[in-house]
This record gives sequence, structure tokens and C-alpha cells, in this order.
Amino acid sequence: MESADSFDTLKKQLEDCTACPLRGDCQAPVGWFGSLESPLMIVGEGPGGVEDDYGCPLIGPSGQLLDKALWSVRITRDRVYTTNVIKCRPKGNRTPTVEEGAFCARRWLDQEIRLLQPKVILGLGSVALRYFRGPDARITRERGQWYTTTEGIPFLATFHPSYLLRLSGQAQIAAKWEVFHDLEAVKAKVEAAVPGYNWNSGAPVHLFELFRKRN
Ligand code: URA
Repeated sequence: MESADSFDTLKKQLEDCTACPLRGDCQAPVGWFGSLESPLMIVGEGPGGVEDDYGCPLIGPSGQLLDKALWSVRITRDRVYTTNVIKCRPKGNRTPTVEEGAFCARRWLDQEIRLLQPKVILGLGSVALRYFRGPDARITRERGQWYTTTEGIPFLATFHPSYLLRLSGQAQIAAKWEVFHDLEAVKAKVEAAVPGYNWNSGAPVHLFELFRKRN
């Protein structure tokens, strides 16, 4: 496959992708959302059922919580770039394997990184962490720490919103605070590279007003 010279070309190539069996179990691949000028790339795991229905990454329950967390540091989704390691929803919403993640991400996510040239990458959860840091990485051990990707981009992983949603009580409160501090650190790192970046468009974006069900 030829490497894409624009997001438009990449989008068309992604729509036609049949490179792995996951494509057979979903409605269609789910690409990216947000500003193509963003200095921050946020990388989730892969589409769930709601994302497969609407064709937008992180629009379902996890995405709603992500939006709240981003707004707590005054970021709106339209001002950053969100995507996933894997583009097709695995059947039954199972977690993709490390091999599935790497196969898909080398084909698509790596091209997104090349085109966007983000100043910072924020990984959500262990699938994203393992793509950038290797299969032995552990989110509980490595969250909140800065690394550098092979392309020289600062990378930090935080807890995935779906993990926060599964917690309750004090454990949930503590994990949410950790995510908040990680987001503050990420924002500060971007600001050092792009002073004065316009992080929000005044109020959280309602993704369900922008996307309709695909079928
Ligand atoms: N979880 C993710 O990591 N990404 C999505 O797009 C949806 C849920």
C-alpha cells in the first residue's frame, strides 16, 4: 500500500481496508476525529459498539467520560486529535491482542502520526501503552511517566476511561485524580512546545450532534 500524502487519501484507503479478519466482524473501520492541526494526539484502544455505529472514535460511554476529563483541564475534543490503535471493532468488544494492535497500527496509526506530527501523544490504557512501549509494559506501573517514541515524540499513558467506569468508590476517585494530573502534565508539555495553543472552543463538543448512525 502506498503511503498517503494527506488525511483525505488516508481516509479513503482506510475505508477500503480488508487487510485483516477483524474487518469482517464490524460495520466499517473507525478513523479519527478532531483538529488536524492539533499538537496533541490521543490514542485509545479500538472502537466499541457505539463507535462502530457512528463511525467516530471515543463517542460512546468511554468517550463521554474522556470529554469530561478533558474539560476538567479546559480542553475540547474539536481542538485535539483522537484516534485508536485498532480501527475495526473486535467481535464482542474483546480486547485486541498485541499482534492485532501492531498489525493495524503499523498500517494506519503510524501514518496518522506522520501526517499530524503531534508534539505529544497521550495513550489511553494498556493497548496504546503496549503499542508504543512493547508487550511487557504495564499500565499500573507505567502510567503517568514520560517516554519518547521511536519517532522522538514525548509519550505518556494514562488510565483508559473504560477502566475508570469499571471502578467505584475511593478507588475510582483516586484513579480519576491520577488521570486529571496526567492531563495537566500533558497539557503543560504541549504548551512548552506550542505556547498559547487554543485548547477549547468555549464549551464541550456534543459528538452525537455531529455524527449520525451509519446504517
Ligand atoms: N474505547 C476506545 O479505546 N476507543 C474507542 O473509540 C471507544 C472505546
